[in-house]
Amino acid sequence: MTDPAEVAALARAFAVHLEHLREYRGVHFVGEGPTPSAEGDVSGADVSGADELGAGESVVDDPGEGDRGVGVPGAGEPGAAAPGRAQPWGEAAEPGPSWGAEQGGAAAADDDGAGAAYREEAARARAQRAEAAQAEAARAQAEAARAQAAQAEAARAQAAQAEAARAEAARAQAARAEAPPAPNSAPNPATEAKAPARARAADWPAAKKLAYLRERNVGDCQRCPLARTRRNIVFGVGNPEADLMFIGEAPGGEEDRLGEPFVGPAGRRLDAWLDLLGLRRADVYIANVLKCRPPGNRDPQPMEIERCSPFLHAQIRAIEPKVIVALGRYAGCLLLQRDLKLYEMRRSVQQYREPKSGAEIPLMVTYHPSYVLRQDRRGHPGHRGGGPPPQSNRPAWINPEDEKVLADLERALALLRR
Ligand code: URA
Repeated sequence: MTDPAEVAALARAFAVHLEHLREYRGVHFVGEGPTPSAEGDVSGADVSGADELGAGESVVDDPGEGDRGVGVPGAGEPGAAAPGRAQPWGEAAEPGPSWGAEQGGAAAADDDGAGAAYREEAARARAQRAEAAQAEAARAQAEAARAQAAQAEAARAQAAQAEAARAEAARAQAARAEAPPAPNSAPNPATEAKAPARARAADWPAAKKLAYLRERNVGDCQRCPLARTRRNIVFGVGNPEADLMFIGEAPGGEEDRLGEPFVGPAGRRLDAWLDLLGLRRADVYIANVLKCRPPGNRDPQPMEIERCSPFLHAQIRAIEPKVIVALGRYAGCLLLQRDLKLYEMRRSVQQYREPKSGAEIPLMVTYHPSYVLRQDRRGHPGHRGGGPPPQSNRPAWINPEDEKVLADLERALALLRR
């Protein structure tokens, strides 16, 4: 028994009982420790009495039947502690009808009075205990409710965290989808790992986009068998901010050796055209449909174009030229996504539609320099195909196909000036 209220109640009951014994039976009962006061003050320094009562707890817990069973035999048996002497709580355990009956009628009446007070106190103590138990139950209930609320709060926090993680993943995915240098449908682990950088790539200058494309997307490309026979990847050259972009077919021997487009015989013809138009290589951007040389300068194969052309589209997205010039049928057909004859494409200004953004760029399709060079070897077959007549101020090497190309290029420049 540790409840102070209960202890106090018992102390009070015990004090009353002792008083009765003293008064009516002449029993001198003085315990070793201080006798608990009638008020049952067990607080503070007066703990010894409380302790004593605590030790006899079982006696007062049920002062009815049990008391009689303990008290009556002990009182008369030899060797048993005299009532009220050695064990004060033993004395307190012996009030009741049987004790009073042995002592005579008057004493019994007195005992009845003491017993009544005792029972009253005990009843009060029980009520207090019940009250305390009720309060304890209420406290436990409140504690359980608090724990439940804390658990619910933790679950809410966890759900919010999971939601935030889902939103972040969706944002990163959207950013990856919008990143400009994504030339190939096959995922490149190196670029996938740099999603945040790609998300910002839309604001990069063209040179940075091209460098990223070259290093991180093209890399040491192995997407088609040309990787096995090439010496160098021929990515592109010129001004990343150019308004005019030239697109050829595929690198030849010189280009494969040097890693730069149009540096062989065909390239020299292209340079000559640019020169006649007052342009330098550094003013324009030059690239090819294929980045690797087909062995023996054979024609590009559809699979090679399919694997490689995403890089070209990405280059166009990065540079955003105002006008594109396709040199030859392969470049024209790829950029128009149609299988047409060169003369059909040459007839008018075409529109290149960028596959990802859908942006349209004016496109001039003209003869490839290699084709025009071959006309040289045929010995200037003369004016064919309805092109412009040779101009008197042209250099001597100009052939009629050159004239047609130059006319096409003039139209392209006119588009730029619009
Ligand atoms: N022919 C092309 O189409 N591109 C080159 O780079 C060289 C020759």
